[in-house]
Amino acid sequence: MNDLAVVDYFSDAAVAQDPYEYWDHLRSQGPVVREPHYGVVAVTGYQEVQAAFKDVASFSAVNAIGGPFPPLPFTPEGDDISAQIAAHRHEFPIFEHMVVMDPPEHEKARSLLGRLLTPRRLKENEDYIWDLADRQLEEFLANGRCEFLGEYGKPFATLAIADLLGVPDEDRPTIRRNLGAGNAPGSRVGALDHEPVGSNPLQYLDELFSGYIADRRREPRPDVLSGLATATYPDGSVPELLEVVRPATFLFAAGQETVTKLLSSAVQVLGDRPDLQQLLRSDRDLIAPFIEESLRMQSPTKVDFRLARKTTSLGGVHIPAGTVLMLCLGAANRDPRKFEQPNEFRIDRRNVREHIAFGRGIHTCAGAPLARVEGVVTINRLLDRTRELTISEAAHGAPGHREYRYEPTFLLRGLTELHIEFTPA
Ligand code: HEM
Repeated sequence: MNDLAVVDYFSDAAVAQDPYEYWDHLRSQGPVVREPHYGVVAVTGYQEVQAAFKDVASFSAVNAIGGPFPPLPFTPEGDDISAQIAAHRHEFPIFEHMVVMDPPEHEKARSLLGRLLTPRRLKENEDYIWDLADRQLEEFLANGRCEFLGEYGKPFATLAIADLLGVPDEDRPTIRRNLGAGNAPGSRVGALDHEPVGSNPLQYLDELFSGYIADRRREPRPDVLSGLATATYPDGSVPELLEVVRPATFLFAAGQETVTKLLSSAVQVLGDRPDLQQLLRSDRDLIAPFIEESLRMQSPTKVDFRLARKTTSLGGVHIPAGTVLMLCLGAANRDPRKFEQPNEFRIDRRNVREHIAFGRGIHTCAGAPLARVEGVVTINRLLDRTRELTISEAAHGAPGHREYRYEPTFLLRGLTELHIEFTPA
């Protein structure tokens, strides 16, 4: 590990492999500290991250995804830069998507998703996900081994969202091909990172969904996409076509890589902790807390950003308007003031559901219920259909000497590959 005092979080290869020691170092200086390279203020304390998420009057989400990249398109002036943010909003990455919107536009965009994510739709989607898990497993179960991200995680997460949105069956194989599989390791279609977002990686989906929605506006039929096509804003007005398409297509960007990362980190623990695997095999009720602890220990969205629109303070630290805040979810979830022995994977952690892996406040993850279902269903079916699931020693080394590679991105935390072996049940 390099000298932590001078490390550049955004480009350091060792920190990308293990951010936890770096975050501990930052936290040892205080829960809110300025990092030396981009002037970004890093927030590693649980309470302080939560407070920043909730203070929408002081902090804008306009830079939620890119943080200091690209640099601000203006020089902040004075103690309130709201007008500058408004004037330059369209110059920020993925400005069309709800995750970077502020009130009142954010509320409008999110209300359309509410029309889609009804309890009934989520239940139907859950039924589909149980079948999907089996179909996905059947593709490789007889081999006794698989590379879990490519053969299960990515196609599974992609198809789960395709079903949620009501994509017609005949189009799902194309979506799977384009988004869910066959990507070279590290090439992240639609990933929420600073590299690909400039050129709207969701273009392909925007076009596909524009077709679906336009079609159903002309001719509604009893399907999910028609519900979306005819949705109105709370004041009764009809959204522009793209205003409906974007909340829908954004689900793929938000829910594919993140879920793949959650599933692979959970399966990694199953393989590395035979004791826990045995416990889960004998008591399936423990799978839900196991998924929560996986989210806490390896939070798939490592960091999330905000821009101080007003001069304020956080955790007692002065924050001038124009400051980029880096909310370190992965660090907050290991804050020892909140979680006892935070670096230990504990399935009986009393307050595990208070982790902050899905964010907090008005932008709280809209897909959290789906992600949780995907996790619980996957582990259940994997345990049902296998005996003795282990990590491949040929690929990752013997127990105690494992080698895992994590994606070299500052935004997301997840394995590049996970090779597992098992005996089909
Ligand atoms: C384990 C998986 C997931 C993790 C860790 C995760 C994490 C997050 C986080 C931290 C945010 C807040 C961003 C912010 O405040 O700046 C967020 C927002 C969001 N997530 Fe997720 N997410 C996951 C899965 C999903 C899935 C499966 C979907 C949908 C199918 C989804 C859809 C969204 C949407 C639409 C937003 C934006 C909400 C808003 O701006 O109001 N996410 N997610």
